[in-house]
Amino acid sequence: MPDADGITPGQDGTKPAPSGPAQTKDYHLGVAPQDAGFPVKGAAHLEWGMKNRLARMFRPDSGNTVMLAFDHGYIMGPTTGLERLDLVIPPLAPYVDVLMGTRGGLRGCVPPTVQNPVCLRVGYDASVLFDDMSDGGGLACDIAGALRMNAICLAAQTFIGAPGEKNSLGLLAQVVDAGAKYGVPTMGVVAVGKQMARTEQFFLLATRILAENGANVVKSYYCDGFEHVTAACPVPIVIAGGKKLPEAEALTMAYRAIAEGAHGVDMGRNIFQAADPPAMAQAVSRVVHLGESDSQAYEYYLDTKQR
Ligand code: R5P
Repeated sequence: MPDADGITPGQDGTKPAPSGPAQTKDYHLGVAPQDAGFPVKGAAHLEWGMKNRLARMFRPDSGNTVMLAFDHGYIMGPTTGLERLDLVIPPLAPYVDVLMGTRGGLRGCVPPTVQNPVCLRVGYDASVLFDDMSDGGGLACDIAGALRMNAICLAAQTFIGAPGEKNSLGLLAQVVDAGAKYGVPTMGVVAVGKQMARTEQFFLLATRILAENGANVVKSYYCDGFEHVTAACPVPIVIAGGKKLPEAEALTMAYRAIAEGAHGVDMGRNIFQAADPPAMAQAVSRVVHLGESDSQAYEYYLDTKQR
């Protein structure tokens, strides 16, 4: 096959032989190799596959992500707003970056033609019927199952300060190791038990412990002093929404979290329990990706909401 410089293969097809006048190739001598760096916090020294998956999670233009969490059924059964995953999740998918769910929820209710990358919850925990949900969790889906689900991220729940702390950190380490083997990042999830105060001190401790134990992303909660929490955590933090708030308040929480260093949300109830879930997903996205204020985003929500 001749190249533009006139070098063509020899008659036997294997040896290149010069033919015709050489054209000038441009090797851009003097131009430094282009290395844009990597925009995800704490990921500069990871390998290509891991970075590529993280870049599908955190949008390169904003560095942030809107993840839709709909994994609640793994301990809560048919949570309000998620009674029919097949009716609720597909219409929301176009308005979020990442779908965060369980293997069963995704496989049974979300068509595989969906274009969003998937963050897969890979652990099981005690159901809401137990007082201590930290007691006795384990692996619900191994790395082979996660790869079959085409997951770009594995989510593992941890219970810092609860009786199940040690067990959950063991599970996190197992998931981090399995993911690292195949270039799949792990999101460590900070669970807040009934007995745990949602304080800066607690979240500083919990998020840092998860990152130091290998989580590539940490999912936590917004709190007073949140900028200290994000500063001290060497990987990106995304916030859960927590229990349903009025839409304006949920947008204020998202706005403050982003302004104070969060790299996105992994939000469930404040989207799928909103009066208009697609409008809320879009309003959250405007805060997370466009840097809109909470009041601008709320105005957008009201304008977009179906009356
Ligand atoms: C927590 O156990 C659930 O798995 C959710 O992923 C998480 O709490 C985020 O959802 P929400 O915004 O409803 O708190």
